[in-house]
Amino acid sequence: MHIYRPYHIIIFGASGFTGQFVVEEVARTASEGPKGNLKWAVAGRNRTKLEKVVEQAAGALSKPELKSEVDILVADVSDPDSLAVMCKQAVIVLSCVGPYRFFGEPVVKSCVENGTHCIDISGEPQFLERMQLNYHDQAAEKGVYIVGSCGFDSIPADMGVIYTRDQFKGTLTSIESFLTASAGTEGGCIHDGTWQSAIYGLADGNKLRSLRKKFGHKPLPVVGAKIKRRGTLFYSNELQQYAIPFMGSDPSVVKRTQRFLNEELTESPVQYGAYVGVGGISNIFKLVFAGLMFFFLVKFSFGRNLLIKFPEFFSFGFFSKEGPTRKQVLYPHYHHLGYQLYFLGSDSFKCDICRWRAPLSVSSFMERVTLKVQTPVRANPTARSALWSKDQVPYSNLPHIVVLFHCMVRLGLL
Ligand SMILES: NC(=O)c1ccc[n+]([C@@H]2O[C@H](COP(=O)([O-])OP(=O)(O)OC[C@H]3O[C@@H](n4cnc5c(N)ncnc54)[C@H](OP(=O)(O)O)[C@@H]3O)[C@@H](O)[C@H]2O)c1
Repeated sequence: MHIYRPYHIIIFGASGFTGQFVVEEVARTASEGPKGNLKWAVAGRNRTKLEKVVEQAAGALSKPELKSEVDILVADVSDPDSLAVMCKQAVIVLSCVGPYRFFGEPVVKSCVENGTHCIDISGEPQFLERMQLNYHDQAAEKGVYIVGSCGFDSIPADMGVIYTRDQFKGTLTSIESFLTASAGTEGGCIHDGTWQSAIYGLADGNKLRSLRKKFGHKPLPVVGAKIKRRGTLFYSNELQQYAIPFMGSDPSVVKRTQRFLNEELTESPVQYGAYVGVGGISNIFKLVFAGLMFFFLVKFSFGRNLLIKFPEFFSFGFFSKEGPTRKQVLYPHYHHLGYQLYFLGSDSFKCDICRWRAPLSVSSFMERVTLKVQTPVRANPTARSALWSKDQVPYSNLPHIVVLFHCMVRLGLL
C-alpha cells in the first residue's frame, strides 16, 4: 500500500551549524531533478531559529519565495510524539541533530516505526554500530533504510576504498588512507558540534568493544599479507609529514562495507588503515600537549565540561564554537582551504612474487589515488546525487548507495 507523504525530505536539525548549509544546498538544487521539484521541509525544536535559517537561505540564494514555500515543522528529540508526526510526513528524514549518541536514537526509532528512511551525518562508530545492532531486523522487516555517516565521515573513505580497488591493476589486498588538511589563506576550523561528538565518543571508548562482541561476527578473512599497523605517531613518507591514526568512524564504516561485500557478494575483503597528517615537528609538541590533556580530561565529567567550554583553547584553535566562516565553508577553493584524502593500495601477492624475483621496494607496486574533498558539508550532495541520477552514483555496490537507490525508487524518481 502506498502511503502519501507530503515531503520527499525533511531536514531535521536545520538550525544547527551543519543544518543551515544543508538547507541552503537543498534550496539551491531542489529544482534540478529530472522529475521536477523536490518537496522538502525543515524541522527542529525552535521555530524562530528555523525561520531565520530559511530567511538566511532565501537571502543568500536570492530566492525570497523560499520564505513562503518552505514548510517548518517543530519536533524535539525528547518528545516522541513530535518525532512521529514529523516522520509520518516524509519519505526521508535527514537528521543533523547531534551528538548522535545522545540525540540520534529517538530519530532512528521513530523512523523505523513510521516507515521513514533515515539519513544522518554521524561520525560516531558507537552510535552507528549500536543502531545496526538494535534496529537492523525491524528496519529490514519494514523495508526502511537507516543510512548513517553520510558526511565527511565516512563517504570519502568508504567510496575511496572502492574507487581505489576499481582503479587498481592487481588484487587490492590492503589499503591505507592519509588525510591532510590545508588551512588556506583565510584559515579554517571545525565546528564545536563535532568536537563534542569526539569528546563523548572517546570518553566511552570501552563500550564500543563490548558492543562489537554482541554482533558475534566471524573475523573477516585476511587476503594476502596482514596489513601492518603504523604507530601512534610516525613520520609518513607518503605525506612528507608526521601522521597519527584517524580516530573518526572511517575504519568502522569501511570494515562494515567490506564485511557486507564479502559476506553478501562473496567479494575479497580489503584490509584498511586510516591516518591523518599532523604536519611538522612544531605541530608535534602542540599535538602531544593537546592529546595528553584531552585524554586525561575526557575521563572525568569536570574535564569534559572544561573541554566543552573551551574548545579553542584545548584544540589550539582547531575547533571553535563559531565554526568556520561562511566563506570558508562555501568557497574553500578561493583561499585554498581543503582536505585531501590519499589512498595507498597494495597487492601483497604481487609484492611477494617481486621480492622473490628482484630487490624492488614494496612502494613500486603501490598505486596512489587522490580523492579531493572540497567541503566538510557532504550530506546533501550525497543525498541529492543519489536522489537525482543513477549515473552520478559511481559505486552501486556500496551499502550506502544501495540504500539511497532504494529511497529513490520509493520516491518514484527512478
Ligand atoms: N560526518 C560529518 O562530516 C559531519 C560534519 C559536520 C557535523 N557532523 C555531526 O553533525 C552533528 C551536528 O553538528 P553541528 O556542528 O551542526 O552541531 P550544532 O550546531 O550544535 O547543531 C545541533 C542541532 O541539533 C539540534 N538539537 C539539539 N537538541 C535537540 C533536540 N532535543 N531536539 C531537536 N533538535 C535538537 C539543535 O537545535 P537548536 O538550534 O534548537 O539548538 C541544532 O539544530 C554532530 O554530531 C557532528 O559531529 C558530522
